[in-house]
Amino acid sequence: MISASAPAKIILLGEHAVVYGQPAIAVPVSSLRATATALHNEHGLQIVAPDLNQILDLGQSEVDHALALLTRLVLNKINHAPPRLTITVASQIPLASGLGSGAAVSTALARVLLAATAQPIELETLNSLVYEVEKVHHGTPSGIDNTVIVYEQPVYFVREQPIERLRIAGDFTLLIGDTGKTALTKIAVGDVRALYNEDPAKIQPILNSIGTLVKAGRNALETGDAALLGGLMVENHRLLQQLTVSSPELDTLVSAALAAGALGAKLSGGGRGGNMIALITPDQADTVERALRAAGAIRVFRADLQRSPDAHLH
Ligand code: MEV
Repeated sequence: MISASAPAKIILLGEHAVVYGQPAIAVPVSSLRATATALHNEHGLQIVAPDLNQILDLGQSEVDHALALLTRLVLNKINHAPPRLTITVASQIPLASGLGSGAAVSTALARVLLAATAQPIELETLNSLVYEVEKVHHGTPSGIDNTVIVYEQPVYFVREQPIERLRIAGDFTLLIGDTGKTALTKIAVGDVRALYNEDPAKIQPILNSIGTLVKAGRNALETGDAALLGGLMVENHRLLQQLTVSSPELDTLVSAALAAGALGAKLSGGGRGGNMIALITPDQADTVERALRAAGAIRVFRADLQRSPDAHLH
């Protein structure tokens, strides 16, 4: 049996504006993972996704599914016939909720295929294959989700620019609150595009303001300044509301976290549902978690951003 996995992700600052060339900051959530497990199957290649109620037989016929597309892309890249395997994909990451479940499942599946066929490839190549599938899921994705998930490192991401790893100086504690409402990133991204096309003169300044606060957020992470980062998250949520990608449920959870003393809170990912994040001090974890649950969160995860090994305190 061969297994491989990939983490969830959260966007700390800059979602949506990143699609228009502004920077964004994302971090992996290594405690929440998608996994793929391969076992020998003498009949051919089969992919089983119990969470999606899917069994895909990838024999001769072309199966129209994102996981089948990823499999074809990987096998073409390594010039390999479909191996005789049953690959089961499973995920602890809530679906369609801004945590990168699609990219994580694709990455885990690609990794198990590469391991089972003993074909190592560069992370950059893997990243570009997963990005192809993200385009099917998300329409016009910036590429931030696949990048942070494939590299499993905090990233300062600018579309079509070389990847910059972020050095985090300080320990930051986050709670992730799930509204329980799924929402497709593709739709939120498309609606922002329509808004932009309707009135670019109104939307561009919002995108620029998000870009400016992301740069300040990078500084906050690199100097260990949690209070500054928290304030920027609140400002970012306000700007995302103006882009119409928040929702009453997200706003309720954000307000509840702030009222319970969180340093900052915002929606994370595509919005309209899915997850929000709250930045807290570790001693606030119980109080803020209780407040989030009382305000309707169906799940609360904790994610600790660890100080980067090579980061210096300023
Ligand atoms: C989704 O996690 C982040 C968005 O900015 C879309 C993208 O960057 O592709 C909303």
